[in-house]
Amino acid sequence: MATLRCAVRAATRASVAPRFTANVRALGFSTSSITGLSVREKEVPVTTWPAPKDGRSSIPVTPKKNSDFEVDAEENEDIYPLTKEAYSKMSPTMQKMSVHGKTIVITGGARGLGNHMARACVEAGAENLVIFDANQELGEAAVRELYEKTGLPVTFFKVDVRDEDAINAAVDRAVEMYGVPDVLVNAAGIADSNIKAEEYDSKMFRRLIDINLTGTFLMSQAVGRRMIAAGKPGSIILVASMSGSIVNYPQEQSCYNASKAGVVQFGKSIAAEWAKYGIRVNCISPGYMDTALNRVPALEAQKKIWRSLTPQNRLGAVDDLNGLCVFLASDASGFMTGSNVLIDGGYSCY
Ligand SMILES: NC(=O)c1ccc[n+]([C@@H]2O[C@H](COP(=O)([O-])OP(=O)(O)OC[C@H]3O[C@@H](n4cnc5c(N)ncnc54)[C@H](O)[C@@H]3O)[C@@H](O)[C@H]2O)c1
Repeated sequence: MATLRCAVRAATRASVAPRFTANVRALGFSTSSITGLSVREKEVPVTTWPAPKDGRSSIPVTPKKNSDFEVDAEENEDIYPLTKEAYSKMSPTMQKMSVHGKTIVITGGARGLGNHMARACVEAGAENLVIFDANQELGEAAVRELYEKTGLPVTFFKVDVRDEDAINAAVDRAVEMYGVPDVLVNAAGIADSNIKAEEYDSKMFRRLIDINLTGTFLMSQAVGRRMIAAGKPGSIILVASMSGSIVNYPQEQSCYNASKAGVVQFGKSIAAEWAKYGIRVNCISPGYMDTALNRVPALEAQKKIWRSLTPQNRLGAVDDLNGLCVFLASDASGFMTGSNVLIDGGYSCY
C-alpha cells in the first residue's frame, strides 16, 4: 500500500507527458491513448482476489450511447415474500435493513407508488400489511393480489384520508387485528397542475390541501397516538415531493407545491416532537414519476421538458421509491429522523 501511495505521488509530481506516461506504466495502467489531457482507455485492467473463474484480467471499453442506459419499462408483477428461513440466513447488516416481523400501514396503497412500496415491504419481510385508500375497487384488487401472490395477511380499509372519524375507526380495527403498527407510510395524495394562482378556485385549493396536507396530519396523528400510548417505537414515512422544495417548470401548480412544502415541514416538526417517544419521521420527495398521476394527455408535451431538465433524462419508475421506503421503515435508519430525501433523477441539481 505504501509503495502504491509513493508511486501515485510520483505520478502526480510528473509534469511532462513522457515522465507521466512512464510512471503510469509503472503503476500498471494501460497507456494506449494517454495523450495530453485526453484519457481514453481501450481496455480496463481488473484484479480480483481470488482470480475469477473466467480468467479475465481486463475488460474492453466500448463507448456507450445515452439510449444504452434507458430503463426497461417492463414491470415485474411477481412478488417474492421474504421467508423466515431466508431471513435467518441473512447477515446482521441485511437483517437490520429488512422489515422482518413488522406491521405496516400504507395509505394510497391501492395503486402507483404506494402500491409498489407495499409490495417492496412484503419482499423485505413485513408480517402484516394494511392498506388505506379511497378507491374501493383498486383497494380490493390490490389486497387480493398481494394475498394470492404471497399468502401474507393483508387488509384494505376504504378510507378517505380527509375523514378523521373513519381513520380512527379503521386504525383501531387494524390495531385489534395486528397490534399497534410499527410503520406508517403516507402515500395518498392528489395533484392539480397547469392552474394559474390568480385563477385557482378556492374550493379546489382547499380540497387539495385537505387531502395532501391535512390527510397526512390526520393519519400521522391517528397512528402516532397509538404508538405513543403503547410505548412502541415506530417509523412514519411521508411521501412529499421535490415540489415541496423547488418550483416546477413550466406548469403552474402553486397549491400542490405548497401542500408538499407543508408535508415536509410537518414531518420535521413531528420528528422533533416525537423523537422522545422513539418515533422517527422522514419524508421521501420524489421527482417526476411515471405513474397514473402523470399519465394524462394534457401533460404529454410538458413531459419532454421535464425529462430535459432531469440529468437522468427520464421519469422515475413506479418502483423507484421502494428501496428508500424499506430503508426508512427498517431499523437500519434508526438514527435518521426529520430528514427529507429527494429521489428525482438529479432534477434539483440544476
Ligand atoms: N407521480 C409523481 O410524479 C409524484 C411525484 C412526487 C410526489 N408524488 C406523490 O406520491 C404519492 C403517490 O402518487 P402516485 O403517483 O402513486 O399517485 P396515484 O394517483 O397513482 O396513487 C395515489 C393513490 O392515493 C389514493 N388517494 C387519493 N386521494 C385519496 C384520499 N383522499 N384518501 C385516500 N386515498 C386517496 C388513490 O386512490 C390512489 O390509490 C402522492 O402523494 C403524490 O403527490 C408523486
